[in-house]
Amino acid sequence: MTKACYPGSFDPVTNGHLDVVKRAARLFDEVVVAVLENQSKRGLFTVDERVEMLRRATADLEGVKVGSFQGLVVEFCRQVGADVIVKGLRAVSDFDYEMQMAQMNKRMGIESAFLAAKPEYTYLSSSLMREVIALGGNIDGLVPDFVIELLKEKFANR
Ligand code: PNS
Repeated sequence: MTKACYPGSFDPVTNGHLDVVKRAARLFDEVVVAVLENQSKRGLFTVDERVEMLRRATADLEGVKVGSFQGLVVEFCRQVGADVIVKGLRAVSDFDYEMQMAQMNKRMGIESAFLAAKPEYTYLSSSLMREVIALGGNIDGLVPDFVIELLKEKFANR
């Protein structure tokens, strides 16, 4: 059985992330989506909110679980029994940093596998989704509908 871990900030989850989760779920027996609890960087959504969003967005996917972690992703992989870290690559600009992390994570004992983002999602990022909603723009079809509502609520209460 091969278990993969898909780590990230997911602040918030986008349809690009969800495409990677769906494709990884077809390649691996189990996929654990792992939200980084970054003590030094407060996000827009709390880690619990992000986990809840991911659980809702992946509820119909078999073999997908969602959790959160602090510290090294390789330690989280060992805790949950994941053999491989899966990441999406949107563009060449993602490559250098992802390669560095993959090589370091390999040195620490965990392999990485990359999925090329679908062309329609290559320009998506969580930060762009936050910015466009904050400024009143439209992101229909780029994140799940319920995420748009949650983003609007966040900015309305600021
Ligand atoms: O969605 P992001 O912000 O691109 O995700 C980055 C993430 C969470 C995958 C990366 O920062 C990470 O793995 N952090 C955990 C800490 C860690 O293991 N650092 C060493 C990596 S070699």
